[in-house]
Amino acid sequence: MSSTTAAHTSPRSVEWLDRDAEALAPTLSRITDLVIASGEGSRLVDVDGRRWLDLSSGIGVTATGHCHPRVVAAIREQAGALLHTSVVAHHTLSVRLAERLAATAPFLADPQVFFCNTGAEAIDGVIKLARRVTGRPGIVAFRGAFHGRTIGGTSLTTSKAKYRLGYEPLLPSVGIAPYPSVLRHGSEAAATAAALGGLDEMFHAQLPPASIAAVIVEPVLGEGGYVVPPVAWLQGLRDRCDEHGILLVFDEVQSGVGRTGTMWAAEGFGVAPDVLLFAKGIASGLPLGGILAGGNLFARWSPGSHGTTFGGNPVSCAAGLATLDVLADECLVPRAGALGAAARATLSAQLHTVPGVVDVRGRGLMLGVELADGLQAAEAQRRALDDGVVVLTCGPHDEVLRIVPALTITDAELDEGLGAVVAAVRAAAA
Ligand SMILES: Cc1ncc(COP(=O)(O)O)c(C=O)c1O
Repeated sequence: MSSTTAAHTSPRSVEWLDRDAEALAPTLSRITDLVIASGEGSRLVDVDGRRWLDLSSGIGVTATGHCHPRVVAAIREQAGALLHTSVVAHHTLSVRLAERLAATAPFLADPQVFFCNTGAEAIDGVIKLARRVTGRPGIVAFRGAFHGRTIGGTSLTTSKAKYRLGYEPLLPSVGIAPYPSVLRHGSEAAATAAALGGLDEMFHAQLPPASIAAVIVEPVLGEGGYVVPPVAWLQGLRDRCDEHGILLVFDEVQSGVGRTGTMWAAEGFGVAPDVLLFAKGIASGLPLGGILAGGNLFARWSPGSHGTTFGGNPVSCAAGLATLDVLADECLVPRAGALGAAARATLSAQLHTVPGVVDVRGRGLMLGVELADGLQAAEAQRRALDDGVVVLTCGPHDEVLRIVPALTITDAELDEGLGAVVAAVRAAAA
């Protein structure tokens, strides 16, 4: 990811940035040099009192916006009642949230939930679940995927080599197959054929299907460039998994919780995984992730074979329940689909003749504008920030502007943000 220049800093921010650099490991790079004091909806306020329009939602996390009053109230109430039990005792919040999540996944038989804290933990958990249940070692992931920073997540991540550099040897028995690109192949049929052909070749030459426990896929490629695959490809994965007894796992850490216009991208594509992973948006900013799967699978993951101290803690679950309530009561999921389609049309219409604009794509409020290269995208990102708008990048060379706002963003705020992005892209092309 690119970082912005010091031009956005002002007195208090500069002081905090200096202390940050002294106190914190430099390993965790930040995308901007903003120092944020508070947030409300789609606005961030920095320590100097300046307001920023946030098209990033903390990388797809604050689904209901910053500090939605109902989420904050639920957290406050729960914090006053019970913060933590771990495996010492049961609590009612995780039961209620699991029941609500199960109801969102009618494509799974008797769904149950294993809660953890993050997306990467969900990935590591599902690797263990799949190996334990199938008795097979192999895992298939896809070129360009991002699945998190643990050793398991890193082993499946190929969105950028820097995420893997220096960490070899990573997990063995991992195969990386192609993710389809309609842009590169010219049509959905050609992209599907090329990607499935690559997978079949892997089955033939490297990882025999009988040795594969799971195929783990982002149904919309996130960090890898906001690439929407053809339905036929996802269906092709489903068919192969059925044929060979492999678990199909959708990593919906980024695409889930309404972001693509349906609660899960799986629903929108009409392709059912065996296991669905979630995190990010589910608790509007508190750490919560999980594995959602049919009860028949969990029945074969015996008590004590996996666990967590903090996963599914009462406060995060309260935030999760409030998040689901807000999504439902404010009709945010279908709205994300409609807003996203309109935003895509606007961006396409206003950018298609701008030099260097390669593609406008996405699904729901997961929108990407592919530019000629990372330099052009970094310049557009910087100009948007100059204009008070926080926008991210993604893609193998950070060449894609990534627009992933809160699902609560108002029509006017989205118009303002898209206007800034269009102006920034035009200026960066000039
Ligand atoms: C698709 C996907 N999977 C997994 C992860 C890892 O999640 P976390 O950072 O919560 O560990 C991410 C994070 O960006 C992601 O986008």
